[in-house]
Amino acid sequence: MLNFDYEIPTKILFGKDKIKQLGSEIKKYANRILLLYGGGSIKKIGLYDDVIKILKENSIEFQELGGVQPNPRITVVREGIRLCREHQLSFILAVGGGSVLDTAKAIAAGFYYQGDAWDFYLRKASVKKALPIGTILTLAATGSEMNGNSVINDEATESKLAIGSLLLYPKFSILDPVYTFSLPPEQTAAGVVDIMSHIFEQYFSPETGTAVQDRLSEALLKVCIQYGPIALREPTNYEARANILWAGSLALNGLLLYGKTGDWSTHNMEHELSAIYDLTHGVGLALLTPFWMEYVLSEKTVEKFVDFAQNVWGIVSNDKFVAAHQAIDKTREFFKSIGMPATLREVGIDDQRLEVMSNKAVRFGALGNFKQLNSGDVLQIFKNAL
Ligand code: NZQ
Ligand code: ZN
Repeated sequence: MLNFDYEIPTKILFGKDKIKQLGSEIKKYANRILLLYGGGSIKKIGLYDDVIKILKENSIEFQELGGVQPNPRITVVREGIRLCREHQLSFILAVGGGSVLDTAKAIAAGFYYQGDAWDFYLRKASVKKALPIGTILTLAATGSEMNGNSVINDEATESKLAIGSLLLYPKFSILDPVYTFSLPPEQTAAGVVDIMSHIFEQYFSPETGTAVQDRLSEALLKVCIQYGPIALREPTNYEARANILWAGSLALNGLLLYGKTGDWSTHNMEHELSAIYDLTHGVGLALLTPFWMEYVLSEKTVEKFVDFAQNVWGIVSNDKFVAAHQAIDKTREFFKSIGMPATLREVGIDDQRLEVMSNKAVRFGALGNFKQLNSGDVLQIFKNAL
């Protein structure tokens, strides 16, 4: 295990009706805020009206910015920064899924930066100061509600890039499982895959002696495998929604990564797909993950797959590679069983731009720590996934 500093500065308000604390939480930071949301799902479920009522009751002045799209665009970030500056807003309330939350973080960072906010994502600038943000999450997936990451798309260059900073952790996040009841099946399933993928990215890491992190990871994977199908069959099952929601936050708040490096190749490869093809993040992860697993499985990495097989899927075999392959097959079957596609062609992606995506994926250097991948490796995985 590597050395680490443990710090997760987000206050989580978890459970039904926790929105009642919204007014008092915001007033700790500001009374003029930006209210940020997506394409309208929060209006359909009545959450928008509840938020407006609370803001008015608490005399919190606000400007609104709606229309944040999945695979959120840097253009909306620029508009948000302009609004915050023009109206002297000093807090951002993000209501929605990861795309809304990530946009809020980009605005928060860009507010104090004189250049263009996209510079952060190009690694030309680092976040020195940020507006405080709070979130009300409506989709269990990204963990953005409890981490300092933000992933933004630039349509002009067909790029999707990420930043991370301790300054971008939300001050508070309200996690009411009821808000996730309205998720369509594809988003529920893609969210479960995203959560599982975050766990895989940290579980499949080269460090040894990380039993705490690894056993926690296996437990969270089992929660997803148990409750994902229930949430799909019974969208209003509170227990299922609550467990998936909390698993999502714990999967990417740092807890599983402290003392480890993680891998993140699959995420970087997926971001190339959703940068060009506007694919749902979890859908891309579902089809790439088993191919990545097959590609990195070797004499050097097999022990981790043996743990995964035994502790997550209950697979035991005298032959390590048999166990590993069975676990990968089980993973693929599980994703299929919750309605996820298994190949690039199923989502309308052919071989036309695989090389472009492979080269872009390594723009900041080789991917991965569990096994390092160069552009040729990435291309091979994309080809295998066709
Ligand atoms: O826009 P609205 O109308 O709200 O609809 C959204 C959107 O169409 C809908 N939705 C959200 N909550 C709903 C709902 N529909 C009905 N009922 C609800 N309760 O779901 C659609 C997808 O929303 P989005 O926010 O895009 O999904 P998600 O939370 O999966 O976020 C995905 C984005 O986060 C990035 C991804 O790359 C992608 O851009 N990621 C962010 C990470 C982070 N910040 O740590 C890490 C992840 O690995 C990931 O890369
Ligand atoms: Zn993800």
